[in-house]
Amino acid sequence: MEVDTLEKRHAGVSGAELSILGIGCWMFGGTSDDYWGSHDDNEARNLVAAAMDRGVNYFDVAEVYNEGRSEEALGRVLKGRRDEAVIGTKILPDNCSKAGVREHCEASLRRLDTDYIDIYMVHWPLRGQPVEDAFGTLKELKDEGKIRVIGVSNFGVKDLTEALGTGAEIGINQMHYNLLSRAIEAEILPLCIERKIGISTYMPLLQGILTGKYATIDEIHPNRTRTRHFRGDRPDSRHGEAGAEMEVDQVLGDLRTLASETGHSVGQMALAWVAARKGITCVIAGARNVEQLEANIEGVSLKLDESVLVRLDEITEPLYKKLGTNPDYWQSLENSRIR
Ligand SMILES: NC(=O)c1ccc[n+]([C@@H]2O[C@H](COP(=O)([O-])OP(=O)(O)OC[C@H]3O[C@@H](n4cnc5c(N)ncnc54)[C@H](OP(=O)(O)O)[C@@H]3O)[C@@H](O)[C@H]2O)c1
Repeated sequence: MEVDTLEKRHAGVSGAELSILGIGCWMFGGTSDDYWGSHDDNEARNLVAAAMDRGVNYFDVAEVYNEGRSEEALGRVLKGRRDEAVIGTKILPDNCSKAGVREHCEASLRRLDTDYIDIYMVHWPLRGQPVEDAFGTLKELKDEGKIRVIGVSNFGVKDLTEALGTGAEIGINQMHYNLLSRAIEAEILPLCIERKIGISTYMPLLQGILTGKYATIDEIHPNRTRTRHFRGDRPDSRHGEAGAEMEVDQVLGDLRTLASETGHSVGQMALAWVAARKGITCVIAGARNVEQLEANIEGVSLKLDESVLVRLDEITEPLYKKLGTNPDYWQSLENSRIR
């Protein structure tokens, strides 16, 4: 077993301590029909063991991932090392009635085969379910020890403020954030810093696009071009906007140039940049194999020179301006689910 040197950070004032790299486990338990394709327990077991041996403690799932099979797979592969892990899972907003929160939490506990969930998040903002019912039940579950930290995900300023208004202590807000997706910097990140709420970030590599492994946008799998970075007429896209493909191409080209100047890879710079932002607790990345995991550990551990960080801000500023401050990268501002 290797020495545990990976940095750990506190999730706000919640008491939870997460490794700076978290493992996105959405692909766990996947079959050929699922978003990330087939993924068996051997692959998951190898990845989790390698991650833990290198100091990673945070594992991120949701009840919705592969219809519960991601939670089940994570529960199976953590057997014997559960107490070393911090597990974050999420409940869908439609399940957040008073009775629903308890029922769905119990179901996640069963699938994960554990007595407690370290961080239990409301996956997307509530629409229709009373906020007091959802967060009131979450507080009860916390008092009973079934969950240790209440969290949210994709909550903007209005929803976060309403949730805090129930008196619930919120430890973490999980948000989409990377060099190509900077919208949370406008309002959400400053509010979380002010209210001492940690931020965990998903898609720090924009599903691999920020590793620089695609020479052109047309090479990217259509599953991964549904966001507002890309034209709204691409397959399965819902945002209906023009996209910002020229700017994305420009940024990726500039990042390759900066990578050759600095000697770091594009992916490492992308991860190091997120990890260096004020207010970030944990950078959650999915990894297909141990090789990607190791590259990602190197990335989050890399301390970039201030001049490189500034250059990364400058390179991505025009794209940030073009995409605007709507933090929902799958929907237009008009239909944004994040407010
Ligand atoms: N709260 C939410 O609403 C929400 C939404 C989405 C995701 N999440 C969480 O965030 C996690 C991560 O997000 P994500 O998986 O969608 O995006 P991601 O981590 O940005 O992308 C994962 C993919 O990126 C590629 N990749 C990762 N490391 C790489 C490396 N070092 N070199 C080359 N390619 C690399 C792999 O692609 P290949 O398959 O091409 O090898 C991998 O499958 C999820 O598992 C989930 O836990 C949360």
